[in-house]
Amino acid sequence: MGFFAADGPLPEANPGQFFMLGVKNCGDDPLLKRPFCYFRKRGNTLEILYRIVGKMTSIMKGLRPGDEVEILGPLGNVYPVEEVFFECKKTEKTEKTKKTKNPLVIAGGTGIASVYPLLEGLPGRAFLFYGGRSKKDVLLSRELRAVSKKFIPATDDGSLGFKGTSVDAARDFLNGRAPDDFVLYACGPNGMLKAASALGVQGYIASEEKMACGIGVCLGCAVRTKDGYKRACKDGPVFKTGELLFD
Ligand SMILES: Cc1cc2nc3c(=O)[nH]c(=O)nc-3n(C[C@H](O)[C@H](O)[C@H](O)COP(=O)(O)OP(=O)(O)OC[C@H]3O[C@@H](n4cnc5c(N)ncnc54)[C@H](O)[C@@H]3O)c2cc1C
Ligand code: FES
Repeated sequence: MGFFAADGPLPEANPGQFFMLGVKNCGDDPLLKRPFCYFRKRGNTLEILYRIVGKMTSIMKGLRPGDEVEILGPLGNVYPVEEVFFECKKTEKTEKTKKTKNPLVIAGGTGIASVYPLLEGLPGRAFLFYGGRSKKDVLLSRELRAVSKKFIPATDDGSLGFKGTSVDAARDFLNGRAPDDFVLYACGPNGMLKAASALGVQGYIASEEKMACGIGVCLGCAVRTKDGYKRACKDGPVFKTGELLFD
């Protein structure tokens, strides 16, 4: 995890958005900033949850207090929340009352960073399915349990929670339940998003397509949608279920 204190007031960020992060004083390698989800904010400090996979994330791991980074954002769109939870439903008494949908949240890998602020904003309301290869890959268990209605971890090797993927765990949970009672929020690798979209629950998925500029000018993040190609950074990263086309 990285903690970055801002010089001035931190701009307001919302669940689903991301920041482009670059490290100062490392010459031109890596040349481009890298995208990281808005994970959470504490006071004037922005927290990023990241996995070390290459050059930039290795440099980030070596940062010390006082080192400077450049952060651009928040960028991209957000997970719609309030408008999808409430449907008008007639009852004898009131003619009109509100029916609440249950957030069904699925995350894989660092996708948990994207949905975490959503969970924090809906304390005790979401059913969360979050998985990794094994127990050590499932981060923040205690915090996640605290902010969810029900947290079901899933691991490929069965070392923690459900044995299988987070989507398998969600499918198992949905068995015998009405998909219409839920609204989906999912973030993770493409294969996971494809499987989550096939669950039959309407909602939103966030793409983690590789990005170069993050602001809609390079077209490096093009994703195929039912309406042609779109830019994951500018038109997303959050898309409606059924909008993204997967190979
Ligand atoms: C909108 C968005 C939000 C993201 N949020 C987070 C986050 O909160 N935490 C986090 O750890 N990571 C996140 N990522 C992924 C993160 O951007 C990459 O891991 C990072 O760019 C790697 O930089 P690097 O220089 O360390 O690795 P590189 O040297 O650039 O790449 C190392 C390896 O990782 C692969 N890689 C790079 N980017 C991606 C990607 N987007 N998807 C799949 N493989 C990739 C490369 O192909 C290569 O094999 C996010 C990506 C996007 C698009
Ligand atoms: S990353 Fe450049 S257009 Fe999306």
